[in-house]
Order: sequence, then structure tokens, then C-alpha cells
Amino acid sequence: MPRMSLLKDEFFNKMENIGLALTFDDVRLKTGYTEVMPEEVSLESLFSRNIPLKIPIVSAAMDTVTEHELAIEIAKLGGLGIIHKNLTPEEQKNEVARVKYHLNGLIEKPICANENEKIEEILKKREERGYTFHTFPVINSEGKLVGILTENDFDFCNNTELYAKEVMTRQLITAHQGINIQEAYKIMVKEKKKALPLIDKDSNLVGLYVFSDVKRIITGSSKNYNIDTKGQLRVGAAIGVYDDAIARLEKLIKEHIDVVIIDTAHGDSKSVIETLKEIKKFYPELDVVTGNISEPESAERLIKAGADGIKVGQGPGSICTTRIIAGIGCPQVTAVYNCSKICDEYNIPLCADGGLRYSGDIPVAIGTGANSVMMGSMLAGTKEAPGEIVFLEGRQWKSYRGMGSLAAMTTNRGSRERYGVKKELVPEGVEGLVPYKGELKDILFQYVGGLKKGMGYVGAKNINELREKADFLYFSSAGQRESHPHDILITKDPPNYKSEGA
Ligand code: XMP
Repeated sequence: MPRMSLLKDEFFNKMENIGLALTFDDVRLKTGYTEVMPEEVSLESLFSRNIPLKIPIVSAAMDTVTEHELAIEIAKLGGLGIIHKNLTPEEQKNEVARVKYHLNGLIEKPICANENEKIEEILKKREERGYTFHTFPVINSEGKLVGILTENDFDFCNNTELYAKEVMTRQLITAHQGINIQEAYKIMVKEKKKALPLIDKDSNLVGLYVFSDVKRIITGSSKNYNIDTKGQLRVGAAIGVYDDAIARLEKLIKEHIDVVIIDTAHGDSKSVIETLKEIKKFYPELDVVTGNISEPESAERLIKAGADGIKVGQGPGSICTTRIIAGIGCPQVTAVYNCSKICDEYNIPLCADGGLRYSGDIPVAIGTGANSVMMGSMLAGTKEAPGEIVFLEGRQWKSYRGMGSLAAMTTNRGSRERYGVKKELVPEGVEGLVPYKGELKDILFQYVGGLKKGMGYVGAKNINELREKADFLYFSSAGQRESHPHDILITKDPPNYKSEGA
């Protein structure tokens, strides 16, 4: 169904008629009459057909941006992290598992210990797999529940050569399969138990409730988290094409991955379309986002092949050199607008990937037609991003590099695949340092704050209204200069603004 004509259509048509394609600095949203208080707006949106967001911010599938630590934090703040693919399928699966097991409503397949395993073996497994929890139901060789190992059991065990059956707590409080979270909470409070194993009529272990998670869900302290129907944090993962996609998917599906992205520099390609169709044939329930593209015809081809979300952005990224090296591309705001017209017709969410520099670029991207934004450099350098802090010239930095940079491609098949190269390495990105930014929650608070303010100025009380009410003005370079602070020597940048060169 064709969408109704919007205010911004006239603006973009005019620009197209004079041959102008635009990016973030070229435009700002027009202000309008408002009754909307920024603090009251709803930021709920969609990343893909079935994957909701509480805030429309997604972290880039890059090896200097998203591994489990950042994915956990961003999902707790309402967004979504996409685990990169410069990892083996096994490593990537483990990263996803660490997000999925971070919190739980009902754990359907708890990680167990066998009664004949030594404590040292269990501790080793815990460390190797990166589990952060300490509670292990203990089963015998027939799979029957015989005890439980708790944090106390590990803490008070001074001989790790002992077997689980010698250390575990044997007096178990259990519940039957099928009890709901409220009933589980009541039992745990009454019995003062931090874990409640669920068993079937033959004493087989069929689930586990953990008190901290159950309490968080019951008391509503996780209402802003982006969690799935089982109470686990949502997370996505990048995959390649053909064999790589299948190898990763087989593992990721077992960890209940929420969404995958066929992550390539050129999404409108035979390999992406064939891989997409293959995935949708075998896993019709799994949301698959495809990208990256910048033309509306590409969006239509991918949607017709079954894409549940479209990712737009070829070359706008802070570390990208694609447009310079290959001579292709479309400035990001125009690319998002053109693709969004197709996505809207088919009701498929669009993610604007790359090129954002300030919080004000978020309402611009969404007003243009995106349902969410993907960020690399704006999240790189946070405490939760992979990598160590580096000290240079008296300041703290962290590494940030393009997935198509020489360093990333030299060492990683995932990067080579993204850029469709085998041996001849022609980089499409750079590597470098970004200032250390501190904790993600403080950074996102500012980004989300900027988005809310933008919505207040436009008079949009939710993301859909922002997409519908948005109208734009073209800014000349004089207009851009006027928008930044001027005629002052800035002695201290505020937390949401960096002066050029800072
Ligand atoms: P920002 O601007 O947020 O962009 O840092 C992040 C996005 O850039 C893309 N990306 C690349 N594009 N060469 C490119 O042309 C690269 O080496 C590269 N690495 C990442 C990617 O879409 C990411 O989300």
C-alpha cells in the first residue's frame, strides 16, 4: 500500500530535482507547535519485523564495539547489541550465550554439573565459558536432580578435588514444571532460597528460577530492559553468507539468538539474497536483517527475498573509506529517506547505520525515515567496548577500527567476507583511537536526552509521530557554522558536545 504524502516528501523531492543528495550536517528538523514534554515521549520502536526496542539505538557489529559486555549494557538500557563476526562460530556463540544467560526469568535448560564432576573441573568450565553465575543444579548419570551447588558451597569448599556430590547441598526445595514466576517468587521468599529447580514427575530437571532475576522481574525494576518473552536480554549477531552463515546459525539458534544480520558491505548481491532465502526456508521464525544498501531498488529486492529488516549505509561511517576508494555511495540522509519509502510500503523497519556524530543526528535519522540507528564511533571508546584503555599525550583512548581496515581484514575471515575479498586486500576502512568515554549508561543518557529534546521541538510524542511529522530545512555551510558554538574559546566541553579536533 503506498504511504500517504508527508511534509518531508516535498523537501526531498525539491532536493532531488536540483540534484542534491544530503547528509546529516546538511539538514535539521523544522520546529513546530508542541504540547510534548521531552521527558514524556515514548522511544519504543522496532529493529526488525519482530524485534522491539525500548530505545531506537543499536550497537554496530564491529570488533571494537560489540561483544557481550556492551551487548548486555545496551540491552539493559533498552537498545540492542549486535555481536560482530570476527570471531569463530564457537566464540561468537559464547558471546551470545553470555548475554542470554546474564539474566533469566525461567531458565529452561539450566547449565548443570554432574555429581561425579570435581569442583575444580566445574570451576574451570565456568571460567572457560565465561559464566557469571554460581548456581549449578547437580544431576546424576540418569539426568535426575540430586542436589545443587550454590555460591556458598563453592565459597566454603577448601578442597577443589572433591566431587560435586560431596560438596553439594542435598536438601532441595523444588517445584513442579509449569509453575509461573509469581508462584516461584512466593516459594523462594518463604523458603529463603536463591534458586528454585523445577522437576517433572520422574524427578528430571526441567527448569530453574534464580531469585535475583525473578525479583527484578516481579518488582518491575527491569521495565526498561530489552528482554525477550523468557526474561532474557535480547541480542543479535552478524553472520556472513553461504557456509559461514549456516555454520554460525547452527550454533546461534541453540542459544536463542533473537535476530541475525547478514552483514556485508553490499547487501544487494546474489550471495546475500540466496543466503537470506536459504535461512528463511530453514528458520522461518528467525528475524533476518540484511544490508548494507543505499538505493530503494535494493531495499525492494531484499524485502521481496524475505528480509525482516533493512540496514542502510554505504560509506557514511567514521572509519569508512568505501566511497573514496570505490567511488560509490549516497549521502546517508538521502539514502535513508529513499529506502524508507519502500520499507514503509512493505512495513519493514529500517536501521540507519553509520555517520552519526552527535545526539541531534538521531532525531534527524529517524525523522528522515529510520526506525532505529546503528552506532559505531559514538559507542566505541566506552568502558564496555572491547579493548584496553591506552594512554597517549596525557589522555585516555581506546582503539576503534573499520571492519574493512587492513588490520581487521588481515587477521579475520569475517572482515574479508564482509568486503567480498579473499587474498587481495584492498582496505575500505581505517584504524585509530577514539577518546575514552566512560560508562555506556552515561553516554546513552545524553544521546537519548538529545533525541527526546528533538521530539519535543518537533511536537512528536513517539517515534512514529517523529517519522510522520518531520520536515526539514537545508543548511548551507554558513548555517552549519552558526549551529556550532562560535566566537568563544571553549575551555570545557559539555558531556554531549565535542568541539572539532577535541
Ligand atoms: P560510525 O560512523 O557509527 O559507523 O562509526 C559505523 C558503521 O560503519 C560501517 N563500517 C565500515 N564501513 N569500511 C566501511 O566502509 C569499514 O571498514 C567499516 N567498518 C564498519 C558499519 O556499517 C558500521 O556499523
